[in-house]
Amino acid sequence: MIRTLAAKAKSEVLPQLKARQIFSLIKEEMSQVEVELERQASSNIQVIDYLGEYVRSSGGKRVRPALLILANYACGGTASDENVIRLAAVMEMLHTATLVHDDIIDNAGTRRGRESVNARFGNQMAVLMGDWLYMSAFETSLKERSLEVLDILTRLTRKMTEGELIQLTVIGNTDITEEAYFDILRRKTAYLFSGCCEIGAILGAANAETQAAMRDYGMNLGIAFQLADDLLDFTADEKSLGKASGADLLEGKLTLPLILLCREHPEFKAELNEIISDGSYQNGARSKVMAKLHETDTLEAIRKVALGYADAARKNLEVLLKTKYSLALEEIPNFVIERNS
Ligand code: IPE
Ligand code: IPE
Ligand code: MG
Ligand code: MG
Repeated sequence: MIRTLAAKAKSEVLPQLKARQIFSLIKEEMSQVEVELERQASSNIQVIDYLGEYVRSSGGKRVRPALLILANYACGGTASDENVIRLAAVMEMLHTATLVHDDIIDNAGTRRGRESVNARFGNQMAVLMGDWLYMSAFETSLKERSLEVLDILTRLTRKMTEGELIQLTVIGNTDITEEAYFDILRRKTAYLFSGCCEIGAILGAANAETQAAMRDYGMNLGIAFQLADDLLDFTADEKSLGKASGADLLEGKLTLPLILLCREHPEFKAELNEIISDGSYQNGARSKVMAKLHETDTLEAIRKVALGYADAARKNLEVLLKTKYSLALEEIPNFVIERNS
């Protein structure tokens, strides 16, 4: 294992080491989150038990609960407190619920390196399992007895659903604008990141200015995270992603790389339309798309856009006192961009 890692390019290894350091800071708290997830996602209904197992052992990166915990410590809170751990687990449950529903919508067969819930149980069961996860998350969040927290959670969940809905209205559309893309991305991904950081700050009794800064940090970080996810769909393989690669275009989803490419080279739209209507890459179509992206340096351009959001996120942290936790938060934007899964 060590030898395989060493054999990889240095740029691939470094961010993972950093990620490990970030996570090792809050190792104890993250294992408490796992225990809480186990508690929240257990049920005496058999299929839901599978869901519990799916949430617990399926190897998600746990970025959202880690963010809530780090934000809480960085704002002076005691994240090992029961209520902080509980809300960190709630964020992971909400996230998993969106994944279960997203995979139905995208007709995805693989998630977190195994069969998606819809592939395993069918769409009907998967809809209900996603609903169950949402509602269990809300039930647990009510224990906080905080309308402020509930307000954030309901708003961001509505935004995520709107993001998926708006995305559906532009499926297969090669004329989608950059503005529409960013609107969808904020809703479907960045609001949840923002909510994790804001709730971490609220539970740490941060003042209004710090809460706002953490909210903005999460938003910028979430945008960088989804830009990276959209890049990975082009550059990574199914094995490291744990989900299909090259899937966005087949699903009729044009992400920023192809939106920018089409803006500069509208003649390329015909080829993309063909791939979308085939629903598969035929006659070397995937390599043609990749060649065009490389030739035009588009992926590098998007990476720069993501780095811009990462910079903005780091600037948002200037209000915080320098602690090991604020330093960990400073590292996360790079980690989300450099990650390979
Ligand atoms: C996947 O999120 C969905 C997106 C917002 C791109 P993650 O990449 O955090 O998925 P897991 O939780 O690690 O599986
Ligand atoms: C991610 O959208 C946002 C969600 C709310 C799940 P994607 O469709 O890009 O997510 P993946 O790539 O399937 O994880
Ligand atoms: Mg998807
Ligand atoms: Mg994706």
